[in-house]
Amino acid sequence: MIKKGRQLYEGKAKIVYEYKGDPNLVIQFFKDDATAFDGVKKGKIGNKGIINNSISTRLFRLLGEHGIATHFVDKISERDMLVKLVQIIPIEMIVRNIVAGSLSKRFGWDEGIVLKRPIVEVYYKSDPLHDPMLNDEHVMALELATEDELAYLRKTAREINEILCAFLEERDLVLVDMKLEFGKDAEGNILLADEISPDTCRYWDKKTGEKLDKDRFRRDLGKVEESYEEVYRRIFLESSR
Ligand code: TMP
Repeated sequence: MIKKGRQLYEGKAKIVYEYKGDPNLVIQFFKDDATAFDGVKKGKIGNKGIINNSISTRLFRLLGEHGIATHFVDKISERDMLVKLVQIIPIEMIVRNIVAGSLSKRFGWDEGIVLKRPIVEVYYKSDPLHDPMLNDEHVMALELATEDELAYLRKTAREINEILCAFLEERDLVLVDMKLEFGKDAEGNILLADEISPDTCRYWDKKTGEKLDKDRFRRDLGKVEESYEEVYRRIFLESSR
């Protein structure tokens, strides 16, 4: 029996519940709901919750093995993940290896250009403001993080990118870009939080360049469920090398 308590929060893709048994832990429940453009486009992706819970579990475990501090504790059902209770830092760290999405629009660069080195961008997590981009001075002025904390977020985001790129590359997936969120636990430790899934990353097939992530939903490209399943299949394959 899962010791699920009161609902604490409902987001666009997940619901957070109390965990009866330890006040320092909570349960993240993964929904099939999908939104894009700050919730303007709404839909469902069949079995997304199950797939994203499994993929996130695998990737959080991988990062943990490489010494990255995450909120992950255990996968306790198909759609439920036990995690450490954190206060989410309202910053979205975006890491980009290849030009796509908003970077392509902002500079008029073609999607697919490989960046000379990964770019880390910082955004304010706020749907009503449409997640505006922040520079370091905005972060300090808004007191979202201290200078040291921001430096830690940047460094950790780059480390996570290196670990995930290597793992995915062996499975013929190119990590184009991703969004990371961090939170602070009761002792003030900064932990990687939220999820790492085809909702929050762009994955392209290494050989064909086919998009295998939420862009298929955002851009109405079809084969949405199939693409999530394909990423799941590859992530659970043992490395081909
Ligand atoms: P972008 O190109 O639209 O800025 O997206 C960069 C990455 O961040 C991409 O992998 C998708 C992810 N992302 C989210 O997880 N949530 C969001 O709300 C947005 C806009 C992007």
